[in-house]
Amino acid sequence: MTATLLTGIGLLATQDDELGELTDAALLIDGDRIGWLGPAGHAPAADRRLDLGGRCVLPGFVDSHAHLVFAGDRAAEFAARMTGQAYTAGGIRSTVAATRAAADAELRANLGRLAAELHAGGVTTFECKSGYGLDVDTEQRLVRLAAERTPEVTFLGAHVVPEHTDRADYLNLVCGQMLQACAPYCRWVDVFCEQGAFDVAESRAVLRAGIAAGLAPRVHANQLTAGGGVQLAVELDAASADHCTHLSPADIDALAGSDTVATLLPLVEFSTRSPYPDARTLLDAGATIALATDCNPGSGYSTSMPLAIALAVVQMRLSPAEAVRAATVGGAKALHRTDIGRLAVGLRADLVVLDAPSYLHLAYRPGVPLVHQTWIAGQRA
Ligand code: NIG
Ligand code: FE
Repeated sequence: MTATLLTGIGLLATQDDELGELTDAALLIDGDRIGWLGPAGHAPAADRRLDLGGRCVLPGFVDSHAHLVFAGDRAAEFAARMTGQAYTAGGIRSTVAATRAAADAELRANLGRLAAELHAGGVTTFECKSGYGLDVDTEQRLVRLAAERTPEVTFLGAHVVPEHTDRADYLNLVCGQMLQACAPYCRWVDVFCEQGAFDVAESRAVLRAGIAAGLAPRVHANQLTAGGGVQLAVELDAASADHCTHLSPADIDALAGSDTVATLLPLVEFSTRSPYPDARTLLDAGATIALATDCNPGSGYSTSMPLAIALAVVQMRLSPAEAVRAATVGGAKALHRTDIGRLAVGLRADLVVLDAPSYLHLAYRPGVPLVHQTWIAGQRA
């Protein structure tokens, strides 16, 4: 095992409450872990040294919400939206048709390409959902392929009811045979709780079945309407309520009084011309928030966590420090992970090196590729 000392770190923003931010710092990567970090003048010896020339180092971004196993794209749907059509859940079905028709090799290649994009943008851990198969065989294929790339795999058989299918029959399938086929590859169960997808009672049944099969819940909640998704997520102590675009004061109170993370997905609001979620009020009320990409072919086809951070700052009134925290510590909390999202001795050596002296530049220079290096478990990605 080699130890690499990163020196010349202009700003080390650890996201650790005790360590805070260090200037003129160094960090030792020992195998797949962080072996030491502190003032450059006190750095230990190492097998090799790498001078970062004053750049800023952050924990790798944790993308706790993404839909990455699918075929085809929906560029035409996007173009129609830009000339006035509203986003609805219905577009999902066209991706389902393309995905069912695709061979494993094609789905694997597409997933690999998107994972490479995520890493190039500084993401070191990502969650990946099924939900574009909507039959037992295809859903199982999707979670199996996702599990090749990440331990954070989510069963989203309850994305929408597929065409030409009886609603009650489909719910029975999702809660029964489909769940049993997928659960061995998954850690999480999710449901699209929304008008045009699943109502609260249906969503509760899906999540309870997932919990009974050993999965932990997360919810697509309050994306298009202020429905009951957030309250359901809190009721079931879900790891996260995702989207939170339309929240009532009671939803904000419920999130603030719970361990459920509010996962905000501003790339979707950007790509659907929707109002942004009220991140400021959520944070001020005491809720924990995460930022994630929600990369998917319909509502937002971007893998850029730096752009999500810039939008959160410019459009959602977060400070750059709050946005970076949501994209690191927040994402880790939304995945119930304590080994990632911060930089401290003993944690996994997942790092982003920015081609900038500070993380402020992530919002100050939107759309500019500022990720200089990404390290995952001590290896350059
Ligand atoms: O998170 N809202 C549900 N699922 C995705 C969109 C899926 C699609 O349009 O293909 C989302 O926005
Ligand atoms: Fe989503």
